[in-house]
Amino acid sequence: MKKYMIAGVLLLSLTVTGCSTQQTSSRPTSNTSSIVINAINDNASGVQANAPVRSDRIVSENLTVSAAETLTVKNGETLYIQNGAELTVDGAVSCENGGAIKIQSGGSLLLNGKMTLNGSLELGGFLGIREKGEINGAGVLTVLNSFDDVNCEGTCLAKIKAPAPVEKDGVTYVGGVLIVNKKYPVPKDYGAELGLVIDDAYDTLLKMREDSGYAMPLVSGYRSYELQTELFEYYCEIDDIARVEMYSARPGHSEHQTGLAMDIGELSEDYVNTEEGAWLTDNCYKYGFIIRFPKGSEHKTGYDYEPWHIRWLGKSTAKLVYDSGLTLEEFLGVDPT
Ligand code: DAL
Ligand code: ZN
Repeated sequence: MKKYMIAGVLLLSLTVTGCSTQQTSSRPTSNTSSIVINAINDNASGVQANAPVRSDRIVSENLTVSAAETLTVKNGETLYIQNGAELTVDGAVSCENGGAIKIQSGGSLLLNGKMTLNGSLELGGFLGIREKGEINGAGVLTVLNSFDDVNCEGTCLAKIKAPAPVEKDGVTYVGGVLIVNKKYPVPKDYGAELGLVIDDAYDTLLKMREDSGYAMPLVSGYRSYELQTELFEYYCEIDDIARVEMYSARPGHSEHQTGLAMDIGELSEDYVNTEEGAWLTDNCYKYGFIIRFPKGSEHKTGYDYEPWHIRWLGKSTAKLVYDSGLTLEEFLGVDPT
């Protein structure tokens, strides 16, 4: 972005797509708390009589909303962040009900300040919620492709809409997140090449142990289809099958077959009442894990509460799930059974 300072007035020069001229908005550098990105396409003409009048704002070059400024996207407006453009928000963004922000493929929004999202935020590019960044409001953040497009170091309290499930080689992913539960299996030979758990998850367990000072023994990591079969059949010999279904996955339906899950500490609900178990519950999201089967969520996950079973998602996605207060099924918008 080119910036020109003339007699105390900052002129922002924005290149406008589909238009050969440059549009320039001007604003004082002081005594102001709002930022203006000029409308380039009021499409009031040619629309049906009762259709809402929408107008577009386009960020096509790098632009910073300074700490003193608020960028407002009003009802009926769409703000596009285009391929190659980065919008850095040190101040605030207010996306009002009926307003839309669309981060297009190759575009980025880096949020250091607060976004009040009462409209919609559509993510086809990259969203970085920095440590002090926060999104709240009654609007919806729609992830079009992958949760890898978000790097959440801050807080997101707005509702997140995940992309539709995609099946690849018999494994189901939602926005790149592997989902396995009573409804979605993995193939019999899936994970055969895996060791204890995937490397990132294991290295992170070591780090959690070191940081927490607790022993956090790894009771169970990767389990093959065959081992899960043995376990499930054994439990069925000693317990009623309806009960077994609540604590043991059928073969092909266990997260342990993916190398993304670990049982830590003690396989007892009382584990959460130990200092170690409580620490795990309160802190594992900071390391990239979630408590996969939370208390009181039996009908949402299909399983009893398991304070020992953690699922690796990576730091950013674990933070998003934690902030949402939802189970993984609810967060991804998939059925548990
Ligand atoms: N205990 C969990 C549900 C499993 O068997 O994978
Ligand atoms: Zn487990």
